[in-house]
Amino acid sequence: MLRLIQNFLLYIPKDFFYLISKLRIFFKIKQKLYYLKFKPNLIKSPNLEIIKKLDKDGIVEIKNYLSNEEIKYFLKIINKEVKDIFENKYKKSEVYNSEDDGKLVYNVNYNSNNKIYEKLNNDKYINEIISSYVRKKVKPSSTVVELKYGKNKLDELISEHSDDWKYRVKVFFILEDIKKNNTPMRYFLNTHKEYNWKKNHNYLSWAFEATPITPYVFRKIVKKEKIVEKVCTAKAGSLIIADTRGFHGGSVLKSGRRIQFIAIYNPLEKKRFRTA
Ligand SMILES: [Fe+2]
Repeated sequence: MLRLIQNFLLYIPKDFFYLISKLRIFFKIKQKLYYLKFKPNLIKSPNLEIIKKLDKDGIVEIKNYLSNEEIKYFLKIINKEVKDIFENKYKKSEVYNSEDDGKLVYNVNYNSNNKIYEKLNNDKYINEIISSYVRKKVKPSSTVVELKYGKNKLDELISEHSDDWKYRVKVFFILEDIKKNNTPMRYFLNTHKEYNWKKNHNYLSWAFEATPITPYVFRKIVKKEKIVEKVCTAKAGSLIIADTRGFHGGSVLKSGRRIQFIAIYNPLEKKRFRTA
């Protein structure tokens, strides 16, 4: 009898267990438990107006957050570091540089410039806003400098996508004006919440890292649901906070460059270097 059971277990294809573990019900339970724990607690925010807008639209801009002196100081440091990276002289932290993407990203860590590190990791005001948004005291899990320099280059983030079904809040510190030609992000307002049209996308992304929402399908959804697309042009010194569960995409760099700090918040993620 034991032998029979042994043989039976041996010959059950691995796929069977694999597929069982991917059942939709498991995802639903996971999602339910996640959202019991993490959900906005708006009154804890140091600024009610900002958090309400973030909760409603999935994105909010805070104008003039950085002073001109700060911007000038940060750009001086960054321009030097970017030059060092291109000349292979930069040793302080991890770097991702792709000529094909026309994009350079480098990590801001303890070895980096102290003022930049502090601004990105220990900005009390921003940390408190995001903490109230996810109902957990959080700091960024990733802090980087990002430079988009390749004109007319496509990278994987150009087309419309959602980063995750779980919270991933990105804070962009704009260091130079972003005009239409400087590859502004496009964000689809109010797509960060749960909708019927997102259900299969969320489930399939979780289970198989797949999505039924191709850019073509997404265009149809935008039209049908009357979703508003916001092109995120911004002035230097602005801060953009985006809940990237919502759909967003890039655009092609037509002239100049785009340079910004990015702090990424994810209540369950350990500190790591993220290039997107
Ligand atoms: Fe994204």
